[in-house]
Amino acid sequence: MDVKALVSQMTLEEKAGLCSGLDFWHTKPVERLGVPSVMVSDGPHGLRKQDEKVDHLGVNESIKAVCMPAACATAASFDRALIGRMGEAIGESCQHEKLGVVLGPAVNIKRSPLCGRNFEYFSEDPYLAGEMSAAYIGGVQSKNVGTSIKHFAANNQEHRRMSSSSNADERTLREIYFPAFEISVRKSQPWTVMCSYNRLNGVYASENPWLLTDVLRKEWGFEGYVMSDWGAVSDRVAGVAAGLDLEMPSSGGLNDRKIVAAVKAGTLDEKIVDQACERILNINYRYLENAKPETPWDQEADHQLSARIAEECMVLLKNEGALPLNKADKAVFIGEFAARPRFQGGGSSHINSFKTTSALQAAEAQGLPVTYVQGYSAARDEATDEMIAGAVEAARAARVAVVFAGLPDAYESEGYDRSHMAMPACQNRLIEAVAEANPNTVVVLHNGSPVEMPWLGRVKAVLEAYLGGQAVGIATVNLLYGDANPCGHLPETFPVKLSDNPSYLYYGGEGNEADYREGVFVGYRYYDKKEMEVLFPFGHGLSYTTFACSNLRLSGDKITDQDTLTATVAVKNTGGRAGKTVVQLYVGDRESTVLRPVRELKGFEKVELQPGESRDVTFTLDKRSFAYWNTAIHDWHVETGAFTIEVGQSSRDIEVSAEVTVESTVELPRRYTADSIFMDVMADPRAARAIEPMLATIQKAFAPNAEASDTAQEAVSADMGMAMMRYMPLRGLLSFAPDKITDDTMEELLKALNG
Ligand code: BGC
Repeated sequence: MDVKALVSQMTLEEKAGLCSGLDFWHTKPVERLGVPSVMVSDGPHGLRKQDEKVDHLGVNESIKAVCMPAACATAASFDRALIGRMGEAIGESCQHEKLGVVLGPAVNIKRSPLCGRNFEYFSEDPYLAGEMSAAYIGGVQSKNVGTSIKHFAANNQEHRRMSSSSNADERTLREIYFPAFEISVRKSQPWTVMCSYNRLNGVYASENPWLLTDVLRKEWGFEGYVMSDWGAVSDRVAGVAAGLDLEMPSSGGLNDRKIVAAVKAGTLDEKIVDQACERILNINYRYLENAKPETPWDQEADHQLSARIAEECMVLLKNEGALPLNKADKAVFIGEFAARPRFQGGGSSHINSFKTTSALQAAEAQGLPVTYVQGYSAARDEATDEMIAGAVEAARAARVAVVFAGLPDAYESEGYDRSHMAMPACQNRLIEAVAEANPNTVVVLHNGSPVEMPWLGRVKAVLEAYLGGQAVGIATVNLLYGDANPCGHLPETFPVKLSDNPSYLYYGGEGNEADYREGVFVGYRYYDKKEMEVLFPFGHGLSYTTFACSNLRLSGDKITDQDTLTATVAVKNTGGRAGKTVVQLYVGDRESTVLRPVRELKGFEKVELQPGESRDVTFTLDKRSFAYWNTAIHDWHVETGAFTIEVGQSSRDIEVSAEVTVESTVELPRRYTADSIFMDVMADPRAARAIEPMLATIQKAFAPNAEASDTAQEAVSADMGMAMMRYMPLRGLLSFAPDKITDDTMEELLKALNG
């Protein structure tokens, strides 16, 4: 389709109209020119296609679909191919259902465990979130269906989500809150981007030209169209100018008329409206010209796929020999989630699952000797004395007690944040009582975000199932009984308590101002720098076998920032079962003049190994792996110096490390004035060379008098004098050694330094 020609035939009113939705889920048609409308739908871990009674919060019923594990879980797979496969399945179902775009993935960083939407987001780590997101997008779009990566950007809380301003400095945005979007755009070119509700440093994302045009398009090369989150538009005309192409759902025509008026008044260039229309139509026709409504959608097959994916995601947090269970053992499943699992979160991503399989059903289907007691009511959030007594009695009678616990729906959802990190008190009470009654107590958790575990020391094993999708029970039982081997690793840190979290003091903000004062120290970047104890570290995950990493080899020990470095490590299955682990590579700057985390994830690979099998895993690192965002040059920069390359199976389980020196090829712009201090001058090799000829004079100027009395030398010795000199501004020469340095020599010195 010649979209340019098509747009040139449209009236201004038709063009303005095309820049907002027809209704909740469709772009507008232009019937006069035969332009059809295209349907979009939530997303991201299944379809929430609504046909008639539309709403965007999942209240009204949508079509029966398949609910895959949510992003909190899929990120734990650390498996790009797996999440790509999930994307393909979703893409196929979109083709079947005639959907042009699925509204996801959601990639915002988990700044605090409190964010109500953490269950929909991938990680506290931007690299992991970006890699998972890029893989998902690649999968969906391979079926000629678009994605809408969301919510751009810095939408990390639900509290006041439509008015709050996320105030973060440039480096923090570039290093923490942008890369998941950047990696996705550069690697997988999502067809659309959804801007977020919030403001970014005071300006609504929906009307932020720096965000939507300078960064997204000019720097990263985004080619699709930007749509608003549902109702995220404040000033529509400013939005069009900033790069917001499509307003969703619509303003009943009001904003379209404002666009027309602005063009007529000469305050908005019509070419910008044309461009928005072209972008929208380019994407719509990309779908329309490749639409395959005859694509079959085998929901039963997707149910099974969902179970396989969930198996690869669940994280075995703790295991003191209780797992895997023996199929002959009498077990009791305690807790309502065993029969009615919580497997997805609330809000716009809520799927109307065509069926669910609970752990109880899965165990019964295998004929396992399992009994069930309810233990608590999730909806009423209570465990009566009778319920607990029943659970205790059943636990005593069984060889093993598996408590299915976690967060009820109301505890975490789109639209509001949690106020604490605790599990329901009634469930904690239940777990304590069961653990007291049966030494073989295992806990399975269903939650979208970290919880405190006051009972952790009293149970034998904990399996984090996250929100595992509609087939969660199949995966849980396969993992509990060892038909599958746990291989998920935590995509986030579980802090001991909420107040340990770096954003604790500032999260939520004051009024509409949410200041990101912890800066780049999010998640493990903070806990590691502070050397804090955590409940479970980022990257942690156990298996029924064991693995060891060894023999780390780098392709060199000295490179420049223009080179790539390969790091190869051997990983071996040292246990007695086949299994998978996640080999993680972290980079740390040993000699930085800027404040940096101890280590940052720069590579990961999921590896499957038979017992005794060993394999080499190779990572390729480039400039970006070593760089921080430099605010003087507004670019990534590597400081010359030594870096550690660490490889292990969690951020706190580093098994091998090596060192490499990276030399910068970029000279940072520096201007010295009389106020510059000697330390900074001497640290800059070029300036140090320039000052060299004067050094003897300068040192003499500051050297204490050699004939001074002992007491005077005690007060300021020669060494102390030199140490103090480091912080002296150059102009100190004029104050303290005017006989040796004159105004003229100072000018000469500055000339040489800036030369
Ligand atoms: C959510 C988006 C969602 C949209 C449409 C909004 O409330 O923030 O994630 O895609 O609704 O349902």
